[in-house]
Amino acid sequence: MFEQVEEYPVDPIMIGADYFAADPRKDKLNLTVGIYQDEHGQTPVLKAVKQAERKLVETQVSKSYLALTGDADFCRVLGREIMGGAHDDGWVSAQTSGGAVALRVMADLLAQMPKPPTVWLQTPTYGNYVPILSAAHARFAHVPYYDPINRQITFEQMLDGLSAASPGDVFLMQGVCHNPTGADMSAAQFDALLDVLEARGIIPWIDLAYLGFAQSWEADCEMARKIAQRFPECIVCITLSKSFGIYRDRAGALFVKTRAGARETMHRAISAIVRAGASHAPDHGPSVVRTILQDDALKALWLAELDQMRARVAHVRQQIANTERSAFGTDQLAYIARQSGMFSLLPLTETQETALTHDHGIHVVKGGRVNVARLGADDITKLIGAIADITSAK
Ligand SMILES: Cc1ncc(COP(=O)(O)O)c(C=O)c1O
Repeated sequence: MFEQVEEYPVDPIMIGADYFAADPRKDKLNLTVGIYQDEHGQTPVLKAVKQAERKLVETQVSKSYLALTGDADFCRVLGREIMGGAHDDGWVSAQTSGGAVALRVMADLLAQMPKPPTVWLQTPTYGNYVPILSAAHARFAHVPYYDPINRQITFEQMLDGLSAASPGDVFLMQGVCHNPTGADMSAAQFDALLDVLEARGIIPWIDLAYLGFAQSWEADCEMARKIAQRFPECIVCITLSKSFGIYRDRAGALFVKTRAGARETMHRAISAIVRAGASHAPDHGPSVVRTILQDDALKALWLAELDQMRARVAHVRQQIANTERSAFGTDQLAYIARQSGMFSLLPLTETQETALTHDHGIHVVKGGRVNVARLGADDITKLIGAIADITSAK
């Protein structure tokens, strides 16, 4: 019977990891990973996380089930952190198993509405949105966001594309450190986008994955705050995987702002969807986050560690631009220094991307995404040299 199972599309990031493992070259370089790494390829546990874990071991008195929407304290503390005073009224929230499950619960909810809205996605965007929306049987469509060859956001085309959206549709965007492009809208562009969404009755859905990696935790919350203050209905998903370095512990949350009369129904709907899927969110990661956010000393330590990760990524980005200019006399990659977060797209054609791996042992995610955090000083020179080689007319 099982021979009838058909081939499933596998996430290109996971396929990339397999190709890398199979590459026998000793000097191969893996830029496919979606996590923060230092120059040695390590993802250390933050000191603040270790201390919070110790505190939890000593103080936790029960491991019984929580509500289907998780720990209300975690949701309240996190919601206030992200949205400030705009989180005080009107939200239904759920603790979820990382950001992916927050996205999936919302996708299920939209797909199950009597008149399912269309979710508008940026192209390119996070590679798991389409699989998540598809698995939920949600409706979705695309608008252009970024042109990798010209290395810039296609803002006007994005707004043009949205003219096909109907009132009640949803626009799924990311907070800072856009994955996979590294290119964030300017504050003026973001405000202009919100004007369009508001004028057209489109509901903003913001997905936050890299808070603290662009400017600072506080500054990086600004986009979510603007949405929360301005829109009577909006959606916020967050993963704490990156900002706290707790990837495998699965901490995330879903926040939905509804009009007053819809709140109880929304709470029951989210609870029912959670029950039929993940059932309960894991508690360890979220408890660590709550413990850190509720303890001034731990919070200060965590913010300092987050700042170090941010500074390293910004430094690598600058190093790429500087090294290219000083050692190669070119500016092909100068845009990388102006972008933020762990990822950028290389301005390569498909053939050039294949040559990067085939000829130089540098592995990137299909479409040219590289994790800049992974690069050490020698890797930077290797990468720039390889790009010069494959892009020069031979
Ligand atoms: C934009 C974005 N959203 C959501 C996620 C999902 O995060 P998690 O691993 O917590 O499910 C990621 C992970 O890479 C991401 O980049």
